[in-house]
This record gives sequence, C-alpha cells and structure tokens, in this order.
Amino acid sequence: TTYKQPYRPQYHFSSRTNWINDPNGLVYYDGEYHLFYQHNPFGNQWGHMTWGHAISRDLVHWQELPPAIPEEGATMIYSGSCVIDKTNTSGFGQDGRVPMVAIYTGARQDNQSQHIAYSLDKGRTWIKYARNPIIDLKRKDFRDPKVFWHEPSQHWVMIVLLPTDKKALFYKSSNLKEWTKAGEFTANDSPASIWECPDLVEVPVDGTMERKWVLMLSMGNNGPAGGSGMQYYVGQFNGSTFINESKPGELRYVDWGKDYYAAITFNNLPRRGNRGAISIGWMNNLQYANDVPTTPFRGAMTLPRELRLVKVPAPVNRYELRQQPIQELKPLLGPTFQWTGTDVAQLNQSLASNSLSSDTYWLQLELEAAKTGVGVRVKKEEAAQGKGEETVIGYDPASQQLYVDRSRSGHVGFKKEFPGRFTAPLKPQNGRISLQIWVDRSSIEVFGNNGEVTLTNQIFPKSDSRGIEFFGEGLRSVLIRSVEPIWK
Ligand code: FRU
Repeated sequence: TTYKQPYRPQYHFSSRTNWINDPNGLVYYDGEYHLFYQHNPFGNQWGHMTWGHAISRDLVHWQELPPAIPEEGATMIYSGSCVIDKTNTSGFGQDGRVPMVAIYTGARQDNQSQHIAYSLDKGRTWIKYARNPIIDLKRKDFRDPKVFWHEPSQHWVMIVLLPTDKKALFYKSSNLKEWTKAGEFTANDSPASIWECPDLVEVPVDGTMERKWVLMLSMGNNGPAGGSGMQYYVGQFNGSTFINESKPGELRYVDWGKDYYAAITFNNLPRRGNRGAISIGWMNNLQYANDVPTTPFRGAMTLPRELRLVKVPAPVNRYELRQQPIQELKPLLGPTFQWTGTDVAQLNQSLASNSLSSDTYWLQLELEAAKTGVGVRVKKEEAAQGKGEETVIGYDPASQQLYVDRSRSGHVGFKKEFPGRFTAPLKPQNGRISLQIWVDRSSIEVFGNNGEVTLTNQIFPKSDSRGIEFFGEGLRSVLIRSVEPIWK
C-alpha cells in the first residue's frame, strides 16, 4: 500500500513519506548503488535537512533505509557527495574496513561551511569528523561540494560554489581533511541568478578514444522552461581548475523541461568499457516544489541517465551532451504494441482494440518531419470528448521544435507557474525524428533523437485518464511497452 497513492511514481524513486529534494552522495560500493538525498524526516515541505538514504543493486529497484546523516541542532545537512577512500588517505579506516566519506555543507542561519563524515558499514551509520568544518570562508552562501579522486594528479578534488557570486571554487586534498584552494571558475554568460549543485565529470566522446570534462550547474532561475533548470560547459580539467572550451554566450541546457534540477553523477562506478557517466536529478522546479499536490510524500528523482558527448562537425563544431536512460531499465519493459504505417486513424483504431491497460509505459516513435504537427496525446481523459485532461507530446516542423504541453495535464492550478508548453530545438536527421517517451503516473521524460535533447516534466492527471491518441501526419512507426512498477 505504501506506493499506491494517487500520483505515486511507479518506477521513479520517491521516499515512503515526506519531502525530498536534491540527490546527494551518489556512489557505488561493493555491489550497492547509494542514493542519498535532501530529506525532511518530519514533514512534507522543505526543512530539517537530513541525508535520506536508499540503496539499489541494479540502479532500478531501490530500498529506502533509515536517514543517514540527521540535522544536528541548528546545523542542517545540505547537499554534497560521497567518495570511497580505498587507500585510507583519511585514516578513518579501521581493521581494513574501507571508509565511505561524505562531504556536505553544514548550513546554519548565517553560515555555510563544508563538513565531512565517514561510515565503515557501507553507509548505514555515520560518524562526523571531530574537527568540522573542514572549509569555512565565513560566508552565508557557500555550498554543495562535489568531491572526486583525480587519478592523473593523485589527489582529491572538490568543486564547491559561491552560489550568489555564480563562482565555482576548486580545492585539492591528499586526505579529505585538509584542503587548499586550487582554482576558480566563473562565466559571465550565465543568465542564472544563482548557481547550485555543481558537478564536474569526465565523459567519453562517441566514436573516439577521447574524453572531455563536463561542468554541470543548476540554475536557481532563468532555466529554459522558466524557473530553475540546468546548464553545462564542456572543456578540460587540469587537476586544479576547469578550462572552459564552450563558445562564450552559447548557453547549453542539460534538459529543456520544467522539472530537472540538481542532477549529479555517480562516483566510483565499476569501469564497463567506454560507458559514460551516470546521473540522477531531482524532478522538480523551485517555483512550486513545495506545492506539488502529493501526499504523504513530496518530490521524486529522474530516471538515471548515461551521459556521453558527441563531436558535432562544422558548421556547429562543438561537443554536445547526449543523454540516454540507462540500459538497466530495459527489464522493466513488458508486453509490446507495435505498428508501422502511414495512416494515423488506423493506428488509433488498432491501439484502441489492443486495450493496453497499464498507466505506466514507454513509447518509441519514428516520424517524418512532414508539414503538419505530429505527436501523441497521453493521459487523456477519454470520456471528456477532447475537452478533458491530456498531455501532448509533439513535433512542430515549422519551428523545428519538440514540445510537451501540460496546460491541461490534470491538476495544474496549485501554482500559476505550473501549466504550460515547453519546447526544445530539434532538427530532423535524414528527414526523421525519433522520440523515446517514459510515462509514469506523475511524470513524462522525453528523449529526442537518441538523447540530443531531453524534456522532463511532472504531470498530475486523474488515475483514470489513461487514453493514448496519435495525431498529425508523419508517424511511421510506434512501439509501446508497459513499464513494470519497481515497488513490491
Ligand atoms: C538546491 C539546494 C542546494 C542546497 C539544498 C538544501 O535545491 O538549495 O543548494 O544544498 O538544496 O536543501
């Protein structure tokens, strides 16, 4: 019964009860993926920030554990990261037990500083370092440390933000306790008012042996769909600072939907060939996160994504991020409805007689960018004769835009910034657009042209708004598969 409430995500992580925001401390260790997250153990709105904890063996099915690092007096535990200190550089290890070390922001009313804690039992219990804070600049806003081991320079690196200055600071350390400043990064072209939750990660470039560094930043506002969002830069990292190679003024968004924030990547993933980095984000927007109409929980994570780069040749001539849902999700996919053809009326008829009943499913569409708009209406209130709820996912060839329209997606009136139509630029490839769409009870993630653009949006439809209807000219093939719930 725990995961059966209206709007409860069936294959995305949410906590059994109460509020969550940013994913924290994503790390793999000894057969387990750890998802820590900003959590209020006492209520369904932001507050009492604590690191919640869930683990998974496959990155798909999660088990929620008791909160890991609770708020302490007036100090809340804000966002941060986890590393596995295999060679015990910190000295926290005992009797050959490898320390898992969390690096997070201790947040008080007038001060934010960086702290560490360690666990010798795979993240179940934590001991705070006696000499915290490890970095204190006596600033009110100074947060969200991401730490990783930099193999070439053989030291730990921290990237941490001065959010209101939109400045990233780099520190280095040999033992995770003592840190020295190594560099800074700022960018005049960012329209955000503040930066939060940075990540810096090395990513493979498709079809080459090359790897480049991607700096991802969460933007407190002026995101692509209004409100919060994420941008990225591509460049190099020399062990001390990030060297941006993106052209100035060329703003690059990680996701074009309204609900994609605070995504970070896993540390210590097992090396599997040339596999990319894996990220998880918080599927929400700061404009209304406290108001989304769910209970007794609030907030959910995105699907894990694999991040890669492609080198787009001249005239574009740049490295671009490509994101795909991780392949581990495939076993969740159930029975298939398959169609190829040109007649959309015939498609709708055969779909209607197929009685696909699941309310969580995956769609793959191939379309020819014809003259008219083309797409699909999902979570459609069938009895309402076209006047009821629906969420529209479509492609507009005139503007070359992919869009998700949730203006009438269900419960939209809880905040005026919620309803709307959100777009991403997308050009046909050989005259074709391909879409991969993940529909859960309260979210839709769209991946266009193999992850060239993504659009992530929450929706809150009635549970019986289950219709699927295709429209327009240009559809060539459709694949629909149900997605099994991850909760037992
Ligand atoms: C982003 C954020 C972080 C902070 C955390 C507090 O959503 O504001 O900057 O560490 O949430 O919960």
